[in-house]
Amino acid sequence: MIKNIFFYLIRLLPPEVSHYVVINVLRYIPIKKKNIKINKLLKTNLFGYKLSNPLGLAAGFDKNGDALLGLLKLNFGFIEIGTVTPLSQEGNTKPRLYRINEERSIINRLGFPNKGVLHLEKNLLQARRYHSIGKEPIIGVNIGCNKNTKDPVKDFIFCMQKVYKSADYITINISSPNTPGLRNFQKKENLNKLLTKINLQRNILKKEYKKSLPILLKIDPDINDRLLKDLVDITIKKKLNGIIATNTTIDKSVIKKSLQNIPDGGISGKLLYKKSNKTLKKVNKFSKGKLQVIGLGGVDNGDSAYQKIKLGASGIQLYSGLIFKGPDVIEDILSNLLIILQKAKK
Ligand SMILES: Cc1cc2nc3c(=O)[nH]c(=O)nc-3n(C[C@H](O)[C@H](O)[C@H](O)COP(=O)(O)O)c2cc1C
Repeated sequence: MIKNIFFYLIRLLPPEVSHYVVINVLRYIPIKKKNIKINKLLKTNLFGYKLSNPLGLAAGFDKNGDALLGLLKLNFGFIEIGTVTPLSQEGNTKPRLYRINEERSIINRLGFPNKGVLHLEKNLLQARRYHSIGKEPIIGVNIGCNKNTKDPVKDFIFCMQKVYKSADYITINISSPNTPGLRNFQKKENLNKLLTKINLQRNILKKEYKKSLPILLKIDPDINDRLLKDLVDITIKKKLNGIIATNTTIDKSVIKKSLQNIPDGGISGKLLYKKSNKTLKKVNKFSKGKLQVIGLGGVDNGDSAYQKIKLGASGIQLYSGLIFKGPDVIEDILSNLLIILQKAKK
């Protein structure tokens, strides 16, 4: 009851203020973990991690790992923190975050505001004192490059070096629309070069820490089929573990005409659902089962989660659904997904 009132009130605040409050509540106020039924139908094996459920928190919600204490109690199977960059940065000028309430969607052009990878590393090491590596929910770190960097590849490598020891997996983010040039890494030649360097570093870190960390690529839903096919082929060739499909879209055609004068930025939530599903389906078709895929975009109930699984996802993430429906959405999705899976099995 109190939680519901809190989430109702919090939505009345401007988006960035409410986000700041929520992160600090999760950071400082102890939360009791709800007991939920574990059922074998919900289990998944994600990059070798045996998880009791396939639902994860998407990157961007906790960019710095500040709220891990609370997030780890929310019954997610996995949590992705970041996007983090080598140096702290402010991001784009405000306002830069808009809710479209009637569509349960968000437009953002934040541009990776974060406190830098050393801050995130400290938070993650701190969390490892009470939440060991490999324990569910597993923790992935999503890494990116600074806006004004002269060498983006070097930025990815630096972040990788800092988090390799304490992360359960790493996601290379080449798909956010608000960092100029980032999406160009999805092009064949650039991706080849990036992943060659990532793999060189991966081998060094593998020897140093005596563990092989899963590495994923997060892609956008605006990519054309030819580039996507090349991207999938290279991801397989370079032995990455999987793809997260998808990040936000910059395609305004997903918005109905009456709302078209909404500012530019990445669109997430329900308006992204169909488009991200199309990309997910294609990734699966092109990869022929050689990659694991995490489905992301517009999930906020059991049915939307199930559709992603049907399209081949081994895991599902959400962001906007959590903003519009509050933390109860996690248990709602899991209980409804279980009912759907039970029916489908009959
Ligand atoms: C406010 C906001 C910030 C985000 N920041 C990041 C980010 O830093 N890194 C990233 O990879 N994705 C980021 N995303 C994208 C989400 O992780 C996700 O791909 C997208 O929102 C689609 O999922 P959804 O429809 O469940 O929200 C952000 C999304 C939103 C709404």
